[in-house]
Amino acid sequence: MVIAIDGPAGAGKSTVARAVAAELGFTYLDSGAMYRSVALAAREAGVDPDDGAALGPLAAGLEIDFDGRRVLLGGRDVSEQIRTPGVSADASRVSVHPAVREAMVARQRALIEAGDYVAEGRDIGTVVSPGAPLKVFLTASDEERARRRAAETGEDVASVLAAQRRRDARDREREHGALRAADDAVEIDTTGLSLEEVVARVVGLAEERGLGARSKGGPGDPERTSPQFVSEGSPGPPSPETPR
Ligand code: DC
Repeated sequence: MVIAIDGPAGAGKSTVARAVAAELGFTYLDSGAMYRSVALAAREAGVDPDDGAALGPLAAGLEIDFDGRRVLLGGRDVSEQIRTPGVSADASRVSVHPAVREAMVARQRALIEAGDYVAEGRDIGTVVSPGAPLKVFLTASDEERARRRAAETGEDVASVLAAQRRRDARDREREHGALRAADDAVEIDTTGLSLEEVVARVVGLAEERGLGARSKGGPGDPERTSPQFVSEGSPGPPSPETPR
């Protein structure tokens, strides 16, 4: 079973999805890391990110796994390599191709079938799991999203904003698995909201729908820490839940 958290880059999906998963005792699934892994594998194999015919078989043959916050490509830790600006740009290009999406969606469905997940991406609620019992679409203003990302990576806000607009356009306009809110998604604009407020809203929605139970790390837990919004993929403490 899956709680779907979709939205554009920098809307806070990763931080929110991780925190919601921890509160509910679900496993966190970062679908973007899978497209990033395809982009990295393509670079290493010398395959052009626009060459859909070559990328389909390449994506289908990849072994992508998660170990806590680490992303493994064929057993090799690629967690940092997949976050470079070059791979980010290529990920947006490789994810346009239907054969790449088919391979990743199949892998995501297999994972989700085997447990309770909070999965974040662009098409979780529309394509990967249209029957998800809770779909959240997170947004934030363009400037806020770029500011968050720049604060995390040290890049300047203007160039982050420019790259973000190019990726957003490609994500929204592609034919397959385009970024859009499912008709039955709950939209939350995180601009000006604290992480706690957003997480509480999503956990509240999950509880209203009878999904999960508050677990260790929830509001009543004295060991609970207060994370801040960080952009997708920035390093952080190891997560107790280990997607495999
Ligand atoms: O969420 P992210 O920035 O790590 O995603 C990297 C790229 O992968 C992004 O350009 C869009 C693409 N992506 C996708 O097409 N479908 C998903 N479910 C998740 C990410």
